Amino acid sequence: MKIKKKFKILSNNLSALINYHRRKTVLGNPPSFVWIEPTNNCNLKCIMCPTGTGKIDVKKGFMDYTLYKRIIDETKEYTSAVTLAISGESLLHPEFFKMIEYASSNGVKILLNTNATLLTEEKSRLLLDSGISEISFAFDGLKKGTYEKARVGADFEKTLDNILYFLRLKKEQRRKLPYAILSILKLEFEDYSEIEKADFLRLFDGLIDEIRSREVSTWGSTFKDTDTFSYRDNSNVYGPCSRLWSTACIAWDGDVVPCVYNANHEYVIGNIKNNRLMDIWNNEKMFRLRESMINGDYLNISPLCENCIVLGTPPIFGIPSGIRLSLADAITNVTGYGFERIALSIANRLRNGSFTAKTISE
Ligand SMILES: C[S@@+](CC[C@H](N)C(=O)[O-])C[C@H]1O[C@@H](n2cnc3c(N)ncnc32)[C@H](O)[C@@H]1O
Ligand code: SF4
Repeated sequence: MKIKKKFKILSNNLSALINYHRRKTVLGNPPSFVWIEPTNNCNLKCIMCPTGTGKIDVKKGFMDYTLYKRIIDETKEYTSAVTLAISGESLLHPEFFKMIEYASSNGVKILLNTNATLLTEEKSRLLLDSGISEISFAFDGLKKGTYEKARVGADFEKTLDNILYFLRLKKEQRRKLPYAILSILKLEFEDYSEIEKADFLRLFDGLIDEIRSREVSTWGSTFKDTDTFSYRDNSNVYGPCSRLWSTACIAWDGDVVPCVYNANHEYVIGNIKNNRLMDIWNNEKMFRLRESMINGDYLNISPLCENCIVLGTPPIFGIPSGIRLSLADAITNVTGYGFERIALSIANRLRNGSFTAKTISE
């Protein structure tokens, strides 16, 4: 990515932060972070996910590659990064590696969340060659019983082997990227000793860049009454939600929604097949949602925001949680991933280690 573009993207992020604090509802800044959904199909039935638990009513499908290219062509000038996953397993998309390569060759930083169950040796090689910047392996359980209880349909040993193969190959090829994260949701039914935890973490010594322990979302009221896992009660909110000032999500069929939690396309702002993202970003529906966020009556038009982990996470130095992700990416674009580590370690000192369990490799 050219240095001029890196600074332009950083300035978009700072404008998002300023416009957020000024409570502007029509924005000069474009979305600084974009999520694209290659597919909402999945091979697992995870107990904490609307896709896995069959709570998705919208049509399932795969994003058309031509549509995807159009999105990248429009967003490449202003987005800090694109996460290539929303409500499904992206490795199921037949043109997935082509998608990453197209974005990378256009200077767009690509991040991926994956369950890693489909990560064969060949796919590991393709992924490493694709130009992807960051990969987050969802691995919710340090022991076979707990992992398989959460990630229904996955095999503990097999997935662990897939991840370790990928990480060892990355090391063998002496690659710095992709920045690799092991993401563990705090489902709180895990029962392990300190020795078992240390044994598990040792497997990743010198291989993983970060182990991230993450809050669980109830997806609005979707899992409010569940007794299959625990979640944090977010009765304190730190609104308005800054994602509406910084983030756009595009589903496989082109529907644009304000947030990744719209798995059922509950609040569709527009469709990218008919409009440019910048026009959708400032249309009447988005304006009304931002306004309701500012007024505090957002639950009337977006009940999904109930108990949200983004709204329920306090700001740090005036930077709200919804903007931190894209701002960190914009700064990382300029400084390299060293910044990400320093920022996380400061955040952890401020919040008693609640952001990341452990950062292992240098
Ligand atoms: C919906 S998944 C889609 C990508 C991929 N299939 C995976 O599992 O990583 C995207 C992310 O959401 C996380 N996730 C799933 N259910 C969640 C919940 N109830 N609360 C918070 N995050 C959740 C997953 O751990 C993953 O990191
Ligand atoms: S693998 Fe990902 S998308 Fe699939 S059910 Fe699990 S969390 Fe949901």
